[in-house]
Amino acid sequence: MHHKYFAVAAARTALVAAIAAAFPLSASSAFAAPPEPAEPAQKPWLDRSLDADQRARLVVKAMTQQEKLRWVLGYFGHDFGKSKKHPDALPQSAGYIPGTPRLGLPALLETDAAQGVASQAGPAVRERTALPSGLATAASWDPKVAYAGGAMIGSEARASGFNVMLAGGVNLQREPRNGRNFEYAGEDPLLAGSMAGQAIKGVESNRIISTLKHFVLNDQETGRNELDARIDKAALRMSDLLAMELALEQSDAGSVMCAYNRLNGPYSCESAWLLNDVLKRDWGFRGFVMSDWGATHSTVAAANNGLDQQSGHEFDKSPYFGGALEEAVKTGAVPQARLDDMVTRIVRTMFAKGVVDNPLKAGATIDFAANGAVSRQTAEEGMVLLKNEGRILPLAKTVRSIAVIGGHADVGVLSGGGSSQVYPVGGLAVKGLLPATWPGPVVYYPSSPLRAIRAQAPNAKVVFDDGRDPARAARVAAEADVAVVFATQWIGEANDAQSLALPDRQDELVSSVAGANARTVVVLETGGPVTMPWLARVPAVLEAWYPGTSGGEAIANVLFGAVNPSGHLPATFPASEQQLPRPKLDGDPKNPELQFAVDYHEGAAVGYKWFDLKGHKPLFPFGHGLSYTTFAYSGLAGQVKDGRLHVRFKVTNTGNVAGKDVPQVYASPLSVKWEAPKRLAAWTKLSLQPGETREVEVAVEPRVLAMFDEKSRTWRRPQGKIKLVLAEDAAGTGATSVTVDLPASTLDARGRPRAR
Ligand code: BGC
Repeated sequence: MHHKYFAVAAARTALVAAIAAAFPLSASSAFAAPPEPAEPAQKPWLDRSLDADQRARLVVKAMTQQEKLRWVLGYFGHDFGKSKKHPDALPQSAGYIPGTPRLGLPALLETDAAQGVASQAGPAVRERTALPSGLATAASWDPKVAYAGGAMIGSEARASGFNVMLAGGVNLQREPRNGRNFEYAGEDPLLAGSMAGQAIKGVESNRIISTLKHFVLNDQETGRNELDARIDKAALRMSDLLAMELALEQSDAGSVMCAYNRLNGPYSCESAWLLNDVLKRDWGFRGFVMSDWGATHSTVAAANNGLDQQSGHEFDKSPYFGGALEEAVKTGAVPQARLDDMVTRIVRTMFAKGVVDNPLKAGATIDFAANGAVSRQTAEEGMVLLKNEGRILPLAKTVRSIAVIGGHADVGVLSGGGSSQVYPVGGLAVKGLLPATWPGPVVYYPSSPLRAIRAQAPNAKVVFDDGRDPARAARVAAEADVAVVFATQWIGEANDAQSLALPDRQDELVSSVAGANARTVVVLETGGPVTMPWLARVPAVLEAWYPGTSGGEAIANVLFGAVNPSGHLPATFPASEQQLPRPKLDGDPKNPELQFAVDYHEGAAVGYKWFDLKGHKPLFPFGHGLSYTTFAYSGLAGQVKDGRLHVRFKVTNTGNVAGKDVPQVYASPLSVKWEAPKRLAAWTKLSLQPGETREVEVAVEPRVLAMFDEKSRTWRRPQGKIKLVLAEDAAGTGATSVTVDLPASTLDARGRPRAR
């Protein structure tokens, strides 16, 4: 049985059933081509000198009603229950929307997702390059790295015959146990929005369309199809929505995917406030809204409230945007103008993104070596050195013996599960792991850390122990100069972590090895934060996340100092679940149909903001990340130029090796209150030689210094003092500070100064 059966199990209403019965759309009738009108002699919309709006208007005018209707109903790209895959969809793909060949418009071929070209599980997966997790990319704090990764996976999407990539996941990490945190970009709206925005821009640089998803507040997987996410609207505008707004502005993403969950009552894909008011009116979004697979719940409400395309309709109760929509337009329940708008948005995006002018070509080749290098560089930029007592790292090439333990490190590195699963060239490094079916299989990429470690220390005796028996692993560790223990946490879509603890007695394994060898290094391959009860007993910890298809090499490069680590945490690592806004996850993982609400009472105080507000001391703070060198800050100053706050400071590399630093500027208001004591206002990443000093200037995003007022739909900041803290992390390590006096300001919903 296909996984997504669970996803579609939602509340049935009599109305829904009645509509479905009255307007059936069987697979056969959907595929049967009705008689086509003749091809027009002229196709003025193919004139590239016209702009996308003009071209879209012209072509929609030339369409029949049937042709229009075909654009708004999507098919799943794989067999699903009784429905067979659409014959023209690419095998084991995410989706398909037929084109209008008569008018020169190609079909839309959709692939997941943000780590690379994914495949639905089945007999013929496509083998492609996987980036490290989105969270790892975010941990690089380098928008250029995010762009390069997006450009690489987008090129593989195009080469694989896809012109839509369902990338751009930027749900804020409100819930460190969320099974999809690895697909996203962390807990801070400015960081997450910038990193995801650049990744999307990279994908779309291939003249294909990317999504931005999941709109909005699908921040936990448990109960995702039915849960009602309750939150204060202004707080939402300053948190999850701000991340999406910034990502959209930076990327101009062609499509926004509305989420499974409800938002303050209605489902996201039929929320007029969310789709019509916020996205299309306030932000001026001109692309199209597609539903998540199984997230459409109506015809009239969805269409009128802003949904433009029903995706993978086999997952829904009914093909709402098929016969039922045709009928609703006939009766006037959905205006003809609205259907025209839906189609115009879709084809306008195709013109604007270059999908029409740059048709997909069969037989393109992929340079896996070059793309593997992009993936490896991303991993190297995103790995976070959490602890390095006594500078035990980097390991010397002259080390005599190393015990490598656990985590299947002899053969590969872990990846996250679900629809975003990319299958690697070379096949799965570990076979037979559970779960074998959705959201599995559990995939280890064949990039062996053990082999890469051996290559870095050719004269050392390097042994491997699988770690299944902690006592045996301890004996192996005791005989080596250094022990490197790999610990893994597999999470996936529809599968939240039930706790922050490492699974499968791995805490016991680490403790046992640490007890046998004082020079123990822990390498973590986790989807998100985990707790570390053994932390005091180990001198070094490296968070490698899910490091992608070149992850083994990247890990060894960091362990031996070929690469100086420069990643910083994009999310707080809590000391325990008790510190979270919801110590216990809401909902019941065994009952996906359960109706319940999640009360996001923390509002915009997400992650470090919540920890600050409550005075909790995390295990590792947001922004934390060590280097093999050290940095110092000086000369911090703030100045308002052209209505925007600019911050200047100097960074010096005070150590002995070259390295990259991520100086972070946090802002705290002194005369008003925000949701929390401080917000990340700006950062930069820079590379410095030993002894080198550089002065940098960063501009502060004005919305980050304001509060959103839902009534006037403006961002407001009264005149007053703001303290700026320049530091290595949210806990204020290495901090220097300055106070600036800012004039009052009112910005419209898009953050533009409002004429007064
Ligand atoms: C996921 C989306 C994905 C879609 C298509 C859904 O289950 O939530 O992120 O793009 O499936 O595979």
